[in-house]
Amino acid sequence: METALAKTPQKRQVLFLAILMLLWEAGSDSIRYSIPEETESGSFVANLAKDLGLRVGELATRGARIHYKGNKQLLELDVETGNLLLYEKLDREVLCGVTDPCILYFQLLLENPVQFFQADLQLTDINDHSPEFLDKEMLLKIPESVQPGTVFPLKIAQDFDIGGNTVQNYTISPNSHFHVVTHNRGDGRKYPELMLDKSLDREEQSELSLTLTALDGGDPPRSGTTAVRIEVVDINDNAPAFLQSLYEVQVPENSPPNSLVVVVSAQDLDAGTYGNVRYTLFQGNQVIQPFVVDEITGEIHLKKALDFEATRYYNVEIAGTDGGGLSGKCTVAIEVVDVNDNAPELTMSTLSSTTPENSPETVVAVFSVSDPDSGDNGRMVCSIQNDLPFLLKPTFKNFYTLVTEKPLDRESQAEYNITITVTDLGTPRLKTQHNITVTVSDVNDNAPAFSQTTYTLRVRENNSPALHIGMVVALASVSSLFLFSVLVFVAVRLCRRSRAASAGRCSGPEGHFPGHLVDVSGAGTLSQSYQYEGIGKEMEENATFRNSFGFN
Ligand SMILES: *[C@@H]1O[C@H](CO)[C@@H](O)[C@H](O)[C@H]1NC(C)=O
Ligand SMILES: *[C@@H]1O[C@H](CO)[C@@H](O)[C@H](O)[C@H]1NC(C)=O
Ligand SMILES: *[C@@H]1O[C@H](CO)[C@@H](O)[C@H](O)[C@H]1NC(C)=O
Repeated sequence: METALAKTPQKRQVLFLAILMLLWEAGSDSIRYSIPEETESGSFVANLAKDLGLRVGELATRGARIHYKGNKQLLELDVETGNLLLYEKLDREVLCGVTDPCILYFQLLLENPVQFFQADLQLTDINDHSPEFLDKEMLLKIPESVQPGTVFPLKIAQDFDIGGNTVQNYTISPNSHFHVVTHNRGDGRKYPELMLDKSLDREEQSELSLTLTALDGGDPPRSGTTAVRIEVVDINDNAPAFLQSLYEVQVPENSPPNSLVVVVSAQDLDAGTYGNVRYTLFQGNQVIQPFVVDEITGEIHLKKALDFEATRYYNVEIAGTDGGGLSGKCTVAIEVVDVNDNAPELTMSTLSSTTPENSPETVVAVFSVSDPDSGDNGRMVCSIQNDLPFLLKPTFKNFYTLVTEKPLDRESQAEYNITITVTDLGTPRLKTQHNITVTVSDVNDNAPAFSQTTYTLRVRENNSPALHIGMVVALASVSSLFLFSVLVFVAVRLCRRSRAASAGRCSGPEGHFPGHLVDVSGAGTLSQSYQYEGIGKEMEENATFRNSFGFN
């Protein structure tokens, strides 16, 4: 054919092609053939001679040729039989892309005589492509506060096929939070949207990995998948919660400053700064509070020292606050444990540093003891030396009296050093000592004693007084007191003897001396009767003499 045309003059050929193009465009009655894409080359499409009503062999004799739009050969014409065969395998997606329908135009030219026939070949789509996602993974960041019913658009999958062979439906792997809705947005394409069915909780599940599947409408359908990773974004929906609402601790009062008392701990399920807990004293850092809390670690240390005797219990409230301002609270109950850190104290109420001899059960001192510690640490025992004639008598509460155990005798011991020891029962035992010195004051408990029970004295009457005196001096070898008594005795005798004649004054008692001891001086000085038989009785009476102590 080409060679035949080549033989014709140049001018004629140009004219011919112009007419051909015109007729091609204007052609209305055309023969249409349809085959599925991807049909094997050489496949029978139609018998053209039969379809055009031509005799067998006419195509050959009339010089039949096929012209293709775009000059790409699609078919092969067997001019002897009139059969139209597929020249090569045709890919609809390559030839037409998204154009639908995919029609390939061609023309049958008969040269002798000239005649044109319009024809076209429609390629029908087969499902030879699968849906395909451009990204292997999609990442969605969804705050945990998002309400159910909220939708999140997803990227679509591509499918080069057309019509029903393109993507028709999207599905997501089974999960309890989402489902996928497939939308048809007017251009025929389907769009997937992820819809939240159930609230997310980052603290329960911080991430979800789902599989999105795109299904086309082929038979059988083809599919493509992609991963959908959902990161649940934290919101500050959790307040710090202490592991214990009450911490109970015991701290010895002698714990050194900075001692660790207890460690409190709060948890916050939120992430990042929303989950970062800082610890503070709930009531602020009061000056009176003897504790400090470490903001980061929650360690509570001793600040200012404890004193059991001053404060026995502390209730410290600790707040834990996260970076979003939510807070929780706990109480630390601190019991201060007593330590035997106080020695007993002795307070002297009354003290008589002198006590008269011969007096039984005389109160020497009254005192009280105290110990601010508690329990055994504050329980006390009081003692004095064993070898002393004194007794400690508990009175009421912690009062004691120190009394003489028996009458004291100045003449055997005139002074006692008494150590009062107060010991508590704590561990270690602490004690206090108080020394007092008691002097025994003298009482006139020793009567003058004659060396002989009877003195025989012969005095001649009418003697001079000087002689009598000389005799008396010789006898009075016992004591000066005795001498004095004798002098008084003699003086009284002389006075009485001369009374009738002179009627002089005499201060002595009338008649005999009284038969008992007499307080002459007013200071306890006694005279002794010359009647020796009477001495024992007089001494007994003397023992009733008492001084009184001024104590309360
Ligand atoms: C899409 O897929 C889901 C799940 O397989 C199915 O329930 C639904 O009917 C399908 N929709 C269409 C339009 O095919
Ligand atoms: C009492 O103590 C004083 C002073 O220590 C001492 O001089 C005196 O001898 C002591 N008296 C007795 C009886 O131990
Ligand atoms: C009390 O007396 C005892 C015994 O003499 C002595 O060891 C002690 O040091 C004295 N205590 C005081 C506080 O004077």
